[in-house]
Amino acid sequence: MPKPILDVQDLTVHFYTYAGVVKAIEGVSFKIFEGETFALVGETGCGKTVTSRALTRLIESPGRIVRGRVLYYRTESSSPIDLLKIPEEELREIRGKEIAYIFQDPTASLDPLYTNGYQVSEAMYYHRTVSKIKEGIMRAVDLFKKVLVPNPEKNVETFPHELSGGMRQRVVISAAISNNPKIVIADEPTTALDVTVQAQILELLRKLKDEYNSTVILITHNMGVVAEMADRVAVMYAGKIVELGDIFSVFEKPYHPYTRALLRAVPDPLKKIERLESIPGTVPNLINPPPGCRFHPRCPYATDKCKLKEPPVVEIENGHYVACWLYEKLEGKEKTSMQQPVEVQ
Ligand SMILES: Nc1ncnc2c1ncn2[C@@H]1O[C@H](COP(=O)(O)OP(=O)(O)OP(=O)(O)O)[C@@H](O)[C@H]1O
Ligand SMILES: [Mg+2]
Repeated sequence: MPKPILDVQDLTVHFYTYAGVVKAIEGVSFKIFEGETFALVGETGCGKTVTSRALTRLIESPGRIVRGRVLYYRTESSSPIDLLKIPEEELREIRGKEIAYIFQDPTASLDPLYTNGYQVSEAMYYHRTVSKIKEGIMRAVDLFKKVLVPNPEKNVETFPHELSGGMRQRVVISAAISNNPKIVIADEPTTALDVTVQAQILELLRKLKDEYNSTVILITHNMGVVAEMADRVAVMYAGKIVELGDIFSVFEKPYHPYTRALLRAVPDPLKKIERLESIPGTVPNLINPPPGCRFHPRCPYATDKCKLKEPPVVEIENGHYVACWLYEKLEGKEKTSMQQPVEVQ
């Protein structure tokens, strides 16, 4: 039986802008199991980054976590703690140490004024993994070896601008793993990089995950990357999860029309894409999201009901969930009588 490490319930984040309240994510719920790679996938603006940042309350003004719980099973024996409730000082001990982030743009994650080694050392010093910066720099040499930064002894002394984008991301990754985190959240870790470097970084992440036995939350808009890396996937659309399941089940039998469209638009995993152009229409404005199912304006199957009422989440197969009125009749029914997923043109 897989053990949950995070249990996210009803997570809701709004941004209070001059133009209106942006309902960035609404009622997002999912569990993360220990040791798995869990992918969050969806088009640009669907709420992937906001979801991942909200897990450790990294939402800045004008944003606010309106409601929800993020239960973290910190130790085997004790009951979980709610990361949205604990004092900020306690959370700071967890963030970066037990739950570490790798962001999309390595340049933005590194300070141009400090050496690469110093920055990795500082991540450890902050969390008292080392007691002196110098000791941390020595450890950074070993970490650089692990993440295949060439000339580690020399490169702990160089500055970020002296390295390529791919190498900078390796420095960021070594800082992220330096405190041996339980959970690594990688938000589009390869999007800013060249195609060939992307594949190398993904390979590195996979290797490190096995070696450190960590749990990974991988954010991407690339279904090809999901197929290569993930055990389970949650598909987000306009601030909500519309489908969730293990990747075999979701890739073999995608139920939600949006998931099916995403899969049809599956790009070459090595190709850099900014958005999935082949799905007609665009993600709705989240100040006034469409009523009912938020996907209905783009859905070829939409009925009047879809326009008025939000579909409930139905567990359609073991651990495979979908929020779509097309499968309403299956709720609570014999799973064996399950109809085939819809065909989307
Ligand atoms: N600081 C902010 N102020 C107002 N709205 C915001 C802010 N940050 C995010 N949003 C809104 O929240 C929604 C979700 O954004 P988010 O960055 O999570 O999307 P994403 O899925 O990560 O997209 P991408 O693939 O482009 O990274 C978007 O509608 C976005 O406009
Ligand atoms: Mg994002």
